[in-house]
Amino acid sequence: MNIEIRHLTKKYRNGVTALDDISFRVGNGVFGLLGHNGAGKTTLMKALVTVLTPSAGTVRLCGFDTVKQGDEVRARVGYLPQELAMYPSLSVFDFVNYMAQLKGVRDKRAVQEVLEEVEMLEFSKRRIGQLSGGMKRRVGIAQALLGNPPILVVDEPTAGLDPEERVRLRGLLSRYAGEGRTVLLSTHIVEDVYQLCEELAVLRKGRLFYAGTSAALLEQVKGRVKILRLEQESQLIELQRKAVVLATTYESRGLTARIMDESDLYPQAEPAEATLEDAYVYCMGGKAHA
Ligand SMILES: Nc1ncnc2c1ncn2[C@@H]1O[C@H](COP(=O)(O)OP(=O)(O)OP(=O)(O)O)[C@@H](O)[C@H]1O
Ligand SMILES: [Mg+2]
Repeated sequence: MNIEIRHLTKKYRNGVTALDDISFRVGNGVFGLLGHNGAGKTTLMKALVTVLTPSAGTVRLCGFDTVKQGDEVRARVGYLPQELAMYPSLSVFDFVNYMAQLKGVRDKRAVQEVLEEVEMLEFSKRRIGQLSGGMKRRVGIAQALLGNPPILVVDEPTAGLDPEERVRLRGLLSRYAGEGRTVLLSTHIVEDVYQLCEELAVLRKGRLFYAGTSAALLEQVKGRVKILRLEQESQLIELQRKAVVLATTYESRGLTARIMDESDLYPQAEPAEATLEDAYVYCMGGKAHA
């Protein structure tokens, strides 16, 4: 296993327990990390890349302990932070070159290669401050790819990107992972996980809610997702008491609710094909604001 997380707990100084006894393992390929805001995704990733020290438990990357063998770990992992600090006045090339020096990557061609990989070579002279959000993200990925690390940790790489950029980035990540490496990706977007990952973990308020294949997660809701037509909104409140509401759609007359009908209380509702999004929302306890 390329990443082994055992009983990982992180308590911040302000008393927040951001991670509470997390254990799971990650092999080759793209692995998804899902969870709401504040679930602990970034904290977990920081512990993996040795930016944070665990309060308890251990993390091993390629067999190396993140606390006792930090240098070995850092030599094998590339990291795209959720908010990467970049110098706006530097050119794309100079920024990535600077990161290469920090990382001790001495091969002169390395900078050019990673910029090529993310299709940013033609913009290498442009200043960081003059890039679009998607381009900045690609530069962020480029610096994470320096040195061809066997493990790539990317925190919300697709957030704020347009659909085309997202597809492009997904392609890049799956290609990278395809060559026997590991990509750990955090996201709010279930679609990204569905497209990219065979396995995933779901964090909920610092606890591990699920770890396994997306197929097995989907299995939990299969055959029980239905669409129910309602005349008025007041019926929704009643419905929420009896079933888990996964989504609602307002129409010119009334509304429809996508529900998990666990005990077959609504035989009149129309059966629907279950999606990974349904399984995720169900795991998280239903739609937050119906
Ligand atoms: N440096 C810090 N000091 C204290 N508490 C923190 C710190 N960083 C994060 N937290 C808290 O830890 C919890 C987990 O935060 P974290 O950033 O890991 O969540 P996340 O899943 O990445 O959320 P998001 O989806 O918004 O990025 C939150 O309650 C957060 O407020
Ligand atoms: Mg985060």
